[in-house]
Amino acid sequence: DDGIRINPSILAADFVNMQAELARIATADFVHVDVMDNHFVPNLTFGPQMVERVQATSPVPLDVHLMITDPDRWAPGYAEIGAASVTFHLEAATEPVALARRLRDIGSRAGVAVKPATPVESLFDLLDDFDQILVMTVEPGFGGQSFMPETMPKLRRLAEEARRRGSSVWLQVDGGIGASTIAQAAEAGADTFVAGSAVFGAGDPANAIAGLRAAAAA
Ligand code: DX5
Ligand code: ZN
Repeated sequence: DDGIRINPSILAADFVNMQAELARIATADFVHVDVMDNHFVPNLTFGPQMVERVQATSPVPLDVHLMITDPDRWAPGYAEIGAASVTFHLEAATEPVALARRLRDIGSRAGVAVKPATPVESLFDLLDDFDQILVMTVEPGFGGQSFMPETMPKLRRLAEEARRRGSSVWLQVDGGIGASTIAQAAEAGADTFVAGSAVFGAGDPANAIAGLRAAAAA
């Protein structure tokens, strides 16, 4: 374990060949599963029934990213399916700390995500309540967008605060992560990297995963 996690996003996979697509990323740390409800974000993917099949089929554990309204109601169901990690958006949650506690009680890691314009200072006192903080590096909703470098100061502040408090929280980035952007996110303090198009759009996903891992460690 080099302390770096590469989590390919199946948003960029072929949805009708999911079993074969999952087999192509067996060297990843987690598979990133983007749940969108056409309400919190203007796009729609899939829900618990699909995620349950991905859980049954995936060679690696699930990192579920919920881009949905009312996660207080829906997030525990994804932990119950057996997802290793469940991340909900801070902007959508009513009681984020209570929800994180429920996810951990079920046996999942608890994650909280922030959109590019959402400040992170309110999370400083909650670092122990979460296992992962996701700093979105694009507006959530679609794959294939450009990395927003203006989100890096937030990541830097979070990393600094986590260090100061001796926290072991994972810092995740998601959106526009690829060979040319992963190093700046790593340098700013990220240790957990979501990549959709950079992995599934590559001819050889295992090679792409290895390349991202090396670039993040450099
Ligand atoms: C965007 C999703 C991302 C997306 C990333 O809302 O949360 O996980 O799949 O795709 P790329 O890596 O192509 O930007
Ligand atoms: Zn995502």
